[in-house]
Amino acid sequence: MRIDIITCLPKLLESPFGDSILKRAQNKNLVEIKVHDLRSFAKNKQKQVDDYAYGGGAGMVLMIEPIANCIEHLKSERSYDEIIYMSPDGDLLNQSLANDLSLRKNIMILCGHYKGVDERVREHYITREISIGDYVLSGGELAAAVLADAIIRLIPGVLSDETSALTDSFQDGLVAPPVYTRPAEFKGMTVPDVLLSGHEKKIEEWRFEQAVNRTKKRRPGAIGG
Ligand code: ADE
Repeated sequence: MRIDIITCLPKLLESPFGDSILKRAQNKNLVEIKVHDLRSFAKNKQKQVDDYAYGGGAGMVLMIEPIANCIEHLKSERSYDEIIYMSPDGDLLNQSLANDLSLRKNIMILCGHYKGVDERVREHYITREISIGDYVLSGGELAAAVLADAIIRLIPGVLSDETSALTDSFQDGLVAPPVYTRPAEFKGMTVPDVLLSGHEKKIEEWRFEQAVNRTKKRRPGAIGG
């Protein structure tokens, strides 16, 4: 999979992909992540990418020209399954959307900033708009990093134990059951006996029951009460 991210603040996206699972996924050639600086697609000497909103009002708007130049340049090199705009009013990201997107080959993600992007970009270039929650961030970069992380960890081979994405919260519609590790007792706090029993079937039943109870309590809508 290839993910191209367009931003006017490329520095913000240096560290999320430089470590741990996401770094390993790139080293194993399971994903290629390219960050593009919108300013290098600006036409004028000042490398301007934003301007005042027509009609007045506070806040700057990202201009269509550098964005169109960047998107068209990328599209001339390969075809894209989705051109995503990160926006607080987009479709809410959930596990099923992440699963869907993890099956695509090439994805482009545009990060908004300031008051957003010229509406013509959304109308003519964007195929999908995604929000990571009903709150407003300073820009789309952190949201793009969240989206990319949620997608990349689902690509087969990215997680060393391939089953571990399958046991994630929400992967089967339930939140994950509690987990414990050594020591079996710490300052009087113990681990449920069943997990120490070595009885695989009982452990599986216990985990399922815990997941159902947790889901009922924390995400009641998910399993109808
Ligand atoms: N840009 C600003 N806030 C955002 C959000 N909540 N989700 C996606 N992109 C954003």
